[in-house]
This record gives sequence, structure tokens and C-alpha cells, in this order.
Amino acid sequence: MKLTFYGHASFSVEIGGRHLVFDPFITPNEAARHIDIKTIKADYLLLSHGHGDHVADAVAIAKNTDALVVASAEVAGWIGAQGVEKTHPMNHGGKKELDFGSVRCVNAIHSSGLPDGSYGGNPMGFVITSPEGNFYYSGDTALTLDMQLIPRWATLDFAVLCIGDNFTMGYEDAVEAARLAGAKKVVGVHYDTFGYIRIDHAKARQAFEAAGIELLLPAIGETIDV
Ligand code: NI
Ligand code: MN
Repeated sequence: MKLTFYGHASFSVEIGGRHLVFDPFITPNEAARHIDIKTIKADYLLLSHGHGDHVADAVAIAKNTDALVVASAEVAGWIGAQGVEKTHPMNHGGKKELDFGSVRCVNAIHSSGLPDGSYGGNPMGFVITSPEGNFYYSGDTALTLDMQLIPRWATLDFAVLCIGDNFTMGYEDAVEAARLAGAKKVVGVHYDTFGYIRIDHAKARQAFEAAGIELLLPAIGETIDV
């Protein structure tokens, strides 16, 4: 699988010949100025929750690509009301087979208001399985014991975890999240974008290294093999 990082908690994974784009927040992100969202390929657009730093470019990318938008029923409805025709509503505990594999919606301990104040439903994480590999994206969340259920559903090749602290778990708790979820390789996201979530990269790397877990912090625009 190939993962491209677009800054903050935005990334895409190429899996089973499909492009899955997660939580696009690119045009408002100064650090991602070199990314042109018109060049982003998407067959599926997965939104973990309704906050602006996760949905900012969702409507534009969905319209550019004709991707199917997968999100909570409330977020999917909000996206649909802006003229996006292909949406798929889900909620915690639900699993859906798609043409590359499956998406399972898992718990995230967070909040989920939409940018205009609309209710966004439950914030979610996603467990993705496919013949090519499996991964977990935590979305914005605290560390939660629910993560220990993940190995019952999938043996992970990697996990994408928030590590920026303040609004979500920090890197110390993300190490424990990786242990609970059974991930030996972690792509860190949701850090450094704003002052509240600046982290010490060396300390984050040390925390993961001490636990025997690989931490990857790709540059914005970088594509890595995962
Ligand atoms: Ni959030
Ligand atoms: Mn966020």
C-alpha cells in the first residue's frame, strides 16, 4: 500500500487499485500550500468527523473526483446538502463492503460539530481491510480501551494515529493506542499544524522507539510505502 500525507490529518492510501482520501484539510493549511487539491485522486473520501480541520476540502474534492463520501449519517447528510450526490452514511459498529475491501466504523472519543454549527453525529475511526492489507485510522480521539477490540477484526499492517495532544491523544498515549490496536508501524498525524498541537519530534520518536514501534512522520506531499 502507498500512503500520501497532505498535512494535518489529511492523507490518502492506495489500496486494491483504489484511492482512499481521509479528512481533507489542505487549502486552509499554510504548510500544505504546495498541494493542489485538483491533482488529488479519490475513489472514496472518508471523513472521521465534522470539524473544519477534517472536512474543509471535502466538497471540492468529492465534486472534482466523483468519489463516494463515507461518513457519519449527519456528516454525510451535510456534505450531500452541498450538492455531492454520492454519499454513504455509517455509524459506530457498522461495517460496509466496498470494491477494494471493507470499512468498519469504530469509536473515537471526541466531538463532531460541523463548521456551520450543525450537529455532526458521532466522531469515528475507521478500520480498513482488504486483500492487500489492513490499517486503522483513529480519527481525532483520546486513548480508549475500545482500541483493544481492533485486533479481533484485523491484523494491522499500520495505523494512522493522532499524536498532537491538547485536542486528541498525544504521542505517549498514541504509543499505548498502537499497542492496544496491535500496530507495529504508526503514521503520526494531527500535530504541528497549530500552536496548540506543536510537538517535540525527537521525544515522539523516542517514545515509539522505546516501545519497539516504528513511527513515520512523512513530509507534506510525501508518498511512503506502508
Ligand atoms: Ni476534531
Ligand atoms: Mn482535528
